[in-house]
Amino acid sequence: MIIAVDGPTASGKGTISKALAAHYGLPHLDTGLLYRAVGWQCAVIGGDPDDPTTALAATSFPDDLLLEERLRTEATGGLASRVSVHPAVRQALYDRQRAFALQPGGAVLDGRDIGTVIAPEAAPKLFVTASVEARAQRRWHEMHARGEAPTLAEIEDDLRRRDERDRNRTAAPLMPAPDAYVLDTSMLDRAAAISAAIAVVDGTAG
Ligand code: C5P
Repeated sequence: MIIAVDGPTASGKGTISKALAAHYGLPHLDTGLLYRAVGWQCAVIGGDPDDPTTALAATSFPDDLLLEERLRTEATGGLASRVSVHPAVRQALYDRQRAFALQPGGAVLDGRDIGTVIAPEAAPKLFVTASVEARAQRRWHEMHARGEAPTLAEIEDDLRRRDERDRNRTAAPLMPAPDAYVLDTSMLDRAAAISAAIAVVDGTAG
């Protein structure tokens, strides 16, 4: 079984994907980390993430970079969103994601284009979403727990900017696959969101 989980930043898709992977005993790939590693590597080589040639060169990042906690910061997320608009970058990361999806026994992948590009044959497909306000609240709590101190308004602005870039790019824009189940987590806590996702996978969701 290949489970595709797509959705915007801070929608809850990461939490849901990890929980699904644990529940069904499947390996999990957070594909956002690959784009974050490319964004980070751009900064390391002193290049411009908006330049396609530099961004493509940064796709040969060292594998152990994926283990670095610093990839998870908002700043690296912003770099990731900039490098991810380049079709050559997406192509360079395609094989790795595709191979993960096709491993024997199945897998859970989360990202922006899993159900539309990386594994269109995945079933089930979830598109996890939530209002900007709900997502900003969650991000605020996570960031303050890490000792970062942005305001709610700054986080909302950043989420809106990233949503717009992810939705309006020409290469693999963020959108639900036609056969995706759209799960809105705005009003759900963590446990309720996970139960709802399991019900979708089990085919018992309303
Ligand atoms: O999911 P995460 O916030 O870690 O992703 C960081 C950025 O990487 C996203 O804003 C998006 O621009 C990009 N991304 C993508 N396709 C994916 C996963 C992430 O374009 N499959």
